[in-house]
Amino acid sequence: MAPAEDIVLAPDQRLKTECAPIEEITDEIRDLADRMLEDMYATEGCGLAAPQVGELVQLVVIDVDYTKNKRNPYVLVNPRIVVADGEERETGEGCLSFPGITVRVSRPSHVVVEARNLDGDLMRYEAQDNLMAVCLQHEIDHLHGVTMVDHLRPLQRVRKMREYEEALAAGAKPGEVGE
Ligand code: NI
Repeated sequence: MAPAEDIVLAPDQRLKTECAPIEEITDEIRDLADRMLEDMYATEGCGLAAPQVGELVQLVVIDVDYTKNKRNPYVLVNPRIVVADGEERETGEGCLSFPGITVRVSRPSHVVVEARNLDGDLMRYEAQDNLMAVCLQHEIDHLHGVTMVDHLRPLQRVRKMREYEEALAAGAKPGEVGE
């Protein structure tokens, strides 16, 4: 399947579902991580969560600073936010499941996240005032059935969803973001 076609697009019940923790890191999980990384790089995303490829487990991939020749992927198994504080910051976010739109979302500027890597080691990620801080929160939200539009006030959300439907009807594909 072409990477862009592998991505679950909103609205979809799978994007609103609480995902199950991963009990054991099996070959299936490793394959899923590979597939998600491939999809993410192919669509030029900086993060992807398992429900976005239709798998309802707590797995996230992130790479916020890759180039054509250098990749720096993180694979987070069962990630959880242990600290979210600092001043709230509003940034424009895109999502591979919402092609064609950008949403202004306000989130805490500092986070600490704990997760297992694919070797089962417990890792700790800390980010402040950067894309990583936003991306960690955005992707972990996906594991709990929350998407970026859920952070908007009701009227804003209705407007954004209309804009999204129009973008989709106009042929927007995962990886394309709006104004
Ligand atoms: Ni997303």
